[in-house]
Amino acid sequence: MTDNRSGIEKELLSYLPKKDELTGNLISSMEYSLMAGGKRVRPMLVTEFAKICGGSEEAAMPFACAIEMIHTYSLIHDDLPCMDNDDLRRGKPTNHKVYGEACALLAGSGLLTLAFEAASSEKAVSLNGTEKCLAAVSVLSQAAGAQGMLGGQIIDLESEGKKVTVDHLKTMDAKKTGALIIASAKLGCISAGATRAQTDAAVKYAENIGLAFQIIDDMLDITSSTEELGKPVGSDSENEKSTYAALLGLEECRRISTELTENAVKALEVFENDTSKLRDFAYYLLNREN
Ligand code: IPE
Ligand code: IPE
Ligand code: MG
Ligand code: MG
Ligand code: MG
Repeated sequence: MTDNRSGIEKELLSYLPKKDELTGNLISSMEYSLMAGGKRVRPMLVTEFAKICGGSEEAAMPFACAIEMIHTYSLIHDDLPCMDNDDLRRGKPTNHKVYGEACALLAGSGLLTLAFEAASSEKAVSLNGTEKCLAAVSVLSQAAGAQGMLGGQIIDLESEGKKVTVDHLKTMDAKKTGALIIASAKLGCISAGATRAQTDAAVKYAENIGLAFQIIDDMLDITSSTEELGKPVGSDSENEKSTYAALLGLEECRRISTELTENAVKALEVFENDTSKLRDFAYYLLNREN
């Protein structure tokens, strides 16, 4: 799945505004986090779903960049002292540690707005048409907003230090992490002009890997090392986060995340094209170590 990582990174850079004397620091801080070397899980889902639904990687690329920009913005803000207060991200000092809190706040906001520039850019419109771009903007804004990722983040913060139910955690994770992963699958389908049945199956796959992804992230916060993870381990217990791992223990988390991965792979049966990459990707995410 990492086969077009350099293509994604090249295109991500192409949307960044040129640095000038007055705003250069802001653009540099946006570039710093965007290019810090994430796994690029979400853009890969966009391009892969586009391809198996009969579309092209090239046309899906502006949408793939848009979701990665929103994801990167969410991480910059997530690390701020007023949120998770973390000093390391993607193996590097967090944005606010390098550029200061005010600039990090602006860099996050800058990446959020840049995502909409990319999804509605001349390039996006010429490759996809206005209707698909409008649909993409609608998916992106809903997934990023109060009903989606931001909604999950507030539930996360307000659950610190509390004993909550599994259903509560499921709702929180579906929003804070699931929303952008589901949006990635939908964006690929939109670019390709997928059928209803294809889109439903893509969403089912994404819902399942999305929840598994956050459960594994929470497990890695306990079992991994800071060096391997590129972000501080033990951050969740330090912040008294409510997570599946804290509530149910590692063994049960492993069982649940395996079951979710199997459900995701099952959802791929609908597609006629070769889905082996998406199947392998689901297992790669389950067994990942960072
Ligand atoms: C981290 O996401 C935040 C979560 C939603 C768990 P990733 O694990 O995809 O982070 P990067 O992009 O690879 O750094
Ligand atoms: C983050 O969840 C989800 C986001 C929307 C950024 P976490 O707070 O667990 O992510 P990490 O562990 O800091 O990457
Ligand atoms: Mg967080
Ligand atoms: Mg965090
Ligand atoms: Mg985490």
